[in-house]
Amino acid sequence: MNVFITGGAGYIGGTVARMLLAAGHQVTIFDNFCHSRRSAVPSGATLVEGSLADRSVLESALGAAQFDGVMHFAALIEAGESMKLPELYFRNNTAGTLTLLEAMLATGQQKIVFSSTAACYGEPERTPILEDARLAPTNPYGESKLLSEHMMRWENVAHGLRFAALRYFNVAGAIEGYGENHEPESHLIPLILDVALGRRASIKIFGTNYPTADGTCVRDYIHVEDLADAHLLALAALETRDRMIYNIGNGQGFTVLQVIDSVRRVTGHAIPVEVHDRRPGDPAVLVASSEAIQRDLGWKPRHGELDNIIASAWKWHRLLHS
Ligand SMILES: NC(=O)c1ccc[n+]([C@@H]2O[C@H](COP(=O)([O-])OP(=O)(O)OC[C@H]3O[C@@H](n4cnc5c(N)ncnc54)[C@H](O)[C@@H]3O)[C@@H](O)[C@H]2O)c1
Repeated sequence: MNVFITGGAGYIGGTVARMLLAAGHQVTIFDNFCHSRRSAVPSGATLVEGSLADRSVLESALGAAQFDGVMHFAALIEAGESMKLPELYFRNNTAGTLTLLEAMLATGQQKIVFSSTAACYGEPERTPILEDARLAPTNPYGESKLLSEHMMRWENVAHGLRFAALRYFNVAGAIEGYGENHEPESHLIPLILDVALGRRASIKIFGTNYPTADGTCVRDYIHVEDLADAHLLALAALETRDRMIYNIGNGQGFTVLQVIDSVRRVTGHAIPVEVHDRRPGDPAVLVASSEAIQRDLGWKPRHGELDNIIASAWKWHRLLHS
């Protein structure tokens, strides 16, 4: 296969690119490095440096080879920042996706696997969350992704564009030699690992009075390698199906304190905590039902154990900061 990967220098795109290359596939990475480093591009990949905003660069890159599909990871990902700068998120994520879709249509590329998000749902009415749950994002980041899903649906109706939107929950873990390296980092697991490495004094817990087992928020963590598997299955399924929307999660939630305990077990570090008030807009529980993709595409998470997810992230985190 030959796959065009936007955002392929980032955490998830870079992981999928490495897994494709290791399996003998060809990869073209399209990234503007606004939130990543050139050194994250794996050897063996073709690099096109450019922005989603630049249709002519996209068209010439997409027209340069016969691709089996596009995997579209490039986006800004900070929900908090999006509350302050919604225009940045709609411009980069939504308008950027529209430009990519236009370039795909102009060059005859018909298949796209899109990185969507649990943030499309907002505050859930029921958990685990099914794909037909109410879609009510509580921040512009989630809205920018939901609007992209809507655009792909209409491009499918009008032009037969084939798409799979995968709504990820919390992605974590690492493969050998590559993992999460966001700047700034806002994800819980790398922040706790920073404490274990002595890069931070303590980890902040926001709210201990939620209606959960220990009062802290519950989230669903999916290993990045399992997520990569889902992308390959989705791209293959686009051979015969023209649109799909699936949740990708473990189906099992862990509280913030359970995650901290797991890091204590894996690293042997005490991990001091600092308790703060709840943050506005943080739902108590976000857990996915991924039964649909398991049933339809035969996807199965292989690395669901929280301690294993954290052990792989810990190995990478030490390497990154060594
Ligand atoms: N990390 C998670 O837990 C999570 C959860 C749900 C959804 N997602 C989605 O998965 C995707 C990948 O996330 P990630 O954690 O790997 O993020 P990341 O920040 O590590 O990677 C995103 C990449 O996209 C690039 N990029 C951004 N805007 C661009 C543009 N206009 N043109 C070209 N390149 C651009 C960045 O430079 C970066 O390399 C995103 O679309 C994100 O919304 C991530």
